[in-house]
Amino acid sequence: MIGIIGAMEEEVNQLKAAMEEVSVETKASMDFCRGRLSGKDIVVVRSGIGKVNAGICTQILADLYSVNAVINTGIAGSLHAQIDIGDIVLSTDVLQHDVDAVAFGYPVGQIPRMESLSFQADRHLADCAEKCCQRVNPDIKTFKGRVLSGDQFVADKEKKEWLIKTFGGLCTEMEGAAIGQASYLNGIPFLIVRAISDKADDSASMDYPAFEAKAISHTVALVKDMVGHLELV
Ligand code: ADE
Repeated sequence: MIGIIGAMEEEVNQLKAAMEEVSVETKASMDFCRGRLSGKDIVVVRSGIGKVNAGICTQILADLYSVNAVINTGIAGSLHAQIDIGDIVLSTDVLQHDVDAVAFGYPVGQIPRMESLSFQADRHLADCAEKCCQRVNPDIKTFKGRVLSGDQFVADKEKKEWLIKTFGGLCTEMEGAAIGQASYLNGIPFLIVRAISDKADDSASMDYPAFEAKAISHTVALVKDMVGHLELV
């Protein structure tokens, strides 16, 4: 079973519409829509925005649906000049940019008493997504790299520069690292798939609504194709 999480309804409703044999169960105020897509068993859910919602959602997927892969689909702000609005970022690893235990000697972003700064995404899922993306979204660029998450909509040039200098991420959003952490704790492979809706700078709050739908259309096309091509054990 493949678990697919989007933070907002807009990010998952087209996937839900394409599913067959759907049944819905509500847990923690989240509707888990189980069914089939491209011949595979999947469960699609809107987690709500932010790391706590995303972490809870992932744990429910692990406990009640025994998922053997988690894909997070959605939009993000670009942290790299070459990554344009509409382009796709696939995670190599994820971290929480708003974690700070520097006073105890940890690098900023690292959760105390956890062994690493970031959580590694699954390479097989990323390679599969990359191939599918080139096929279904031939007009955009696909990048693989670090995804940053925090309970903040980044819309400020200085903050953006600090994120780039401190962590070297490709994009910033609000759920991926929580999904990565929860997946890691449960031993489940995961991938964050994000299309760029804004540049995470002073123009972000203006660009975001204008480009949200276009960005989402790219992730939806990718995830639909990818589900059909995934071979999970
Ligand atoms: N999601 C889309 N754009 C974002 C941004 N600039 N910051 C955080 N989350 C986002």
